[in-house]
Amino acid sequence: MIVKKVLIKNFRNIENIEILPDEKMNVFYGPNAQGKTNLLEAIWLFTGAKSFRGAKDSEFVKFGTTEGFIKTEFFKDGAEMEAEIKIGERRKAYLNGNSLASPGALAGKFCAIVFSPQDISLIKDGPSVRRRFLDTAIFQIYPKYVEIMRKYTRAVQQRNAAIKDSYYHPSLLSLIDVFDAEIVENGKKIIEYRKRYIDYLKTEVPKIYSGISENKESLDISYALNCSAELLEERLKAARREDMKTGITSVGPHRDDIDFSINGISARLYGSQGQKRSAALSLKLAEAEILNKQTGSRAIALLDDVMSELDPARQDYVLNHIKDWQVFITCCDPSNTKNLSAGRIFKIENGEIK
Ligand SMILES: Nc1ncnc2c1ncn2[C@@H]1O[C@H](COP(=O)(O)OP(=O)(O)O)[C@@H](O)[C@H]1O
Ligand SMILES: [Mg+2]
Repeated sequence: MIVKKVLIKNFRNIENIEILPDEKMNVFYGPNAQGKTNLLEAIWLFTGAKSFRGAKDSEFVKFGTTEGFIKTEFFKDGAEMEAEIKIGERRKAYLNGNSLASPGALAGKFCAIVFSPQDISLIKDGPSVRRRFLDTAIFQIYPKYVEIMRKYTRAVQQRNAAIKDSYYHPSLLSLIDVFDAEIVENGKKIIEYRKRYIDYLKTEVPKIYSGISENKESLDISYALNCSAELLEERLKAARREDMKTGITSVGPHRDDIDFSINGISARLYGSQGQKRSAALSLKLAEAEILNKQTGSRAIALLDDVMSELDPARQDYVLNHIKDWQVFITCCDPSNTKNLSAGRIFKIENGEIK
């Protein structure tokens, strides 16, 4: 998809902006606190999701005003589309002039991926961040996965509650059998979906990472499975006695992880800041690529502040070699933009385009 026009009115520190983006690369630069992230946040909201900053709806309205809107004209699947979101206490969304039941109904209409500095946590932090990434990426391709995850998570919670109390209430033991069966049934499916998705990642991420690192480094991905589908039932049973002491279910895909290694060494433990950032960026770009291959929808890429911590060669890759998506990228240093070979450059100052 291609964004043709963006209109923003009274959104955060932006009073009134109209942008006619380039079809490929759009760079927004300016010092801190001028409204660059605000602008990407506004564009992101057209996906129907909540803010990637975790902000509440009521925080969007420009101080001193009570309402605003964001509007976009875009081209997707051969059709001209128009989306609008009214900003106030709550968001209210419209698609081609029709009011939608909720902003979430825009999902799948306007497709974007966002990369912001805190996404380095995908590499740096604990496994729960990676599982969330994985699960969200899988939901987008296989909507059925939502229900499987929901059943699985509920069964693990119920099992945790039951094993805690079973010491005093042995009658709960038969219930644990029921929860175990739910965990095994849905856990096996989750492992299947995750395996398939990680196989896609194994194809896409290393290609992007070698591009970013000018073929000097290689990134490998592996699925750090807590327990294979074949052994799940047996190991869950075997763990019950121990689990009764801790009150926590110790076996199952809720304990899975993804390992990243750069030139054979753990990126999480030994990677430099720039390597971690490049790996996280590759992961996000791969997500967009996989979404495109599996569903045919081409997302736009919103890249917030990725330039810092990348050396000039990596910056060049980000600016000039992301060919397949329309990109909106922010940076502080105008010198970052001097090597831009094609595209449009916007200066942002105090919520205005200069
Ligand atoms: N609702 C709001 N109304 C007016 N200004 C806001 C609002 N929310 C945030 N801001 C201002 O926006 C600025 C930050 O913008 P941001 O896009 O994060 O900057 P940057 O250009 O560094 O990415 C801050 O100065 C903040 O005070
Ligand atoms: Mg910012």
